Amino acid sequence: MRICVIGTGYVGLVTGAVFADLGNDVYCVDVDAEKVSRLSKGIMPIYEPGLEEMVKRNLTEGRICFHTDVGEYVRRADIIFICVGTPSKNEGETDLSQVESAAKDIGKNINGYKVVVNKSTVPVGTGDLVRRIINENEKTRVEFDVVSNPEFLREGSAIADALNPDRIVIGAPSKNVAMKLIELYATLGAPMYITDVVSAELIKYASNSYLATKISFINAIADLCELAGANITDVARAVGADKRIGKEFLFAGLGYGGSCFPKDIASLEHTARKLGYEFGLLRSVMHINDIRAHKLVSKVDNRFKTLEGHSFAVLGLSFKPNTDDLREAKSLEIIETLVGKGAKVKAYDPVAMEKAREIFPHVDYVESPYDAAEGASALILVTEWREFLSLDMERLKKIMKSPVIFDGRNIYDMEKLKGLGFEYHGMGRH
Ligand SMILES: NC(=O)c1ccc[n+]([C@@H]2O[C@H](COP(=O)([O-])OP(=O)(O)OC[C@H]3O[C@@H](n4cnc5c(N)ncnc54)[C@H](O)[C@@H]3O)[C@@H](O)[C@H]2O)c1
Repeated sequence: MRICVIGTGYVGLVTGAVFADLGNDVYCVDVDAEKVSRLSKGIMPIYEPGLEEMVKRNLTEGRICFHTDVGEYVRRADIIFICVGTPSKNEGETDLSQVESAAKDIGKNINGYKVVVNKSTVPVGTGDLVRRIINENEKTRVEFDVVSNPEFLREGSAIADALNPDRIVIGAPSKNVAMKLIELYATLGAPMYITDVVSAELIKYASNSYLATKISFINAIADLCELAGANITDVARAVGADKRIGKEFLFAGLGYGGSCFPKDIASLEHTARKLGYEFGLLRSVMHINDIRAHKLVSKVDNRFKTLEGHSFAVLGLSFKPNTDDLREAKSLEIIETLVGKGAKVKAYDPVAMEKAREIFPHVDYVESPYDAAEGASALILVTEWREFLSLDMERLKKIMKSPVIFDGRNIYDMEKLKGLGFEYHGMGRH
């Protein structure tokens, strides 16, 4: 099939690469000319395991190309995927300006029957909005259908997720229209859930909100553990052993960040309010998450009384491991607060330091966790990159000013560290 993907961010680029790898002709278009030019040369704008190889292979074999001319490739395509950003506006409302602009471009250039697919995460009713905008902009009456096909890939394992999804959700106006996407996805052999457009739009928000609720729930229990003198690691492990609950997303720590959860939870709460439903549960989920970084800095504050003159080693900057994405990363809030209180920060991350330098140019970015720990009053673990699990703790102890660890993700063996002479502060652990 001839596929046009509008927007080459995390979702568009991975979607385009995977569809090309499955043998389709894929035209990726983006308004960012520099990104397009670099992608045409095989230079990735993001770090994502396996992505570069896949894009380069398909560029060489001529199945994928990158352009800025949306109109030309809309005209050539049978299926058009909208994969542009949908950030938050005030009050959690979703900013649909990128989707509207993509829909306008489609409307102006549509020249025959096409299936237009919203893959961006968009609030209920956006399918109708896209249809209206295309209708308002088309030069002559042309048949087309609008489908919702939300994306569930996770940054850090995006290619693997796109190739082996838990499920594919297709919200279409009819079975015939759904068939176009069923055919496209058939080779993946994943379960498909076919429904109407509005339900598909809601499925994405409900999924992310449920996962965020699990995270905030266990973080609230972690806070209770601290007050009660219990250990969240033991509590969560036993709670998660119940099959009805499951062990995933029950890790207490600094909470969720990234480009999706914060805005999606806020968006669903906003949609609910607009529809007349008071979603107090989601407001609590957001509140519990919003104060996680502050809680960790309070622990540092309580321990050192004044932070002036202290140097802290911050390990991990990206919002989660295996990505260089810093959007809504807890590291940003933590570094800003520490520096605001007069502390010095030496930071290390395997891949996100370049992007972090653009946000905090004055932080000292170093080449290894050991460089960060040299002379530090404490080590603050923010992102649970795998390499931080196997640090040489004896070596760290020797080079730190004081052997204190604030483990924002509860990744370390607390007893072992205490045995080595470290002072250990976890999130909900004693
Ligand atoms: N990042 C994720 O892990 C993830 C996962 C699932 C769903 N989503 C959803 O997918 C959507 C895209 O997310 P992302 O992280 O890929 O965003 P992104 O910001 O990384 O990429 C969006 C891209 O769209 C381009 N763009 C904007 N307007 C355009 C236009 N009118 N025409 C052409 N290109 C345009 C931008 O230049 C940018 O390259 C969002 O709705 C997001 O919520 C993201």
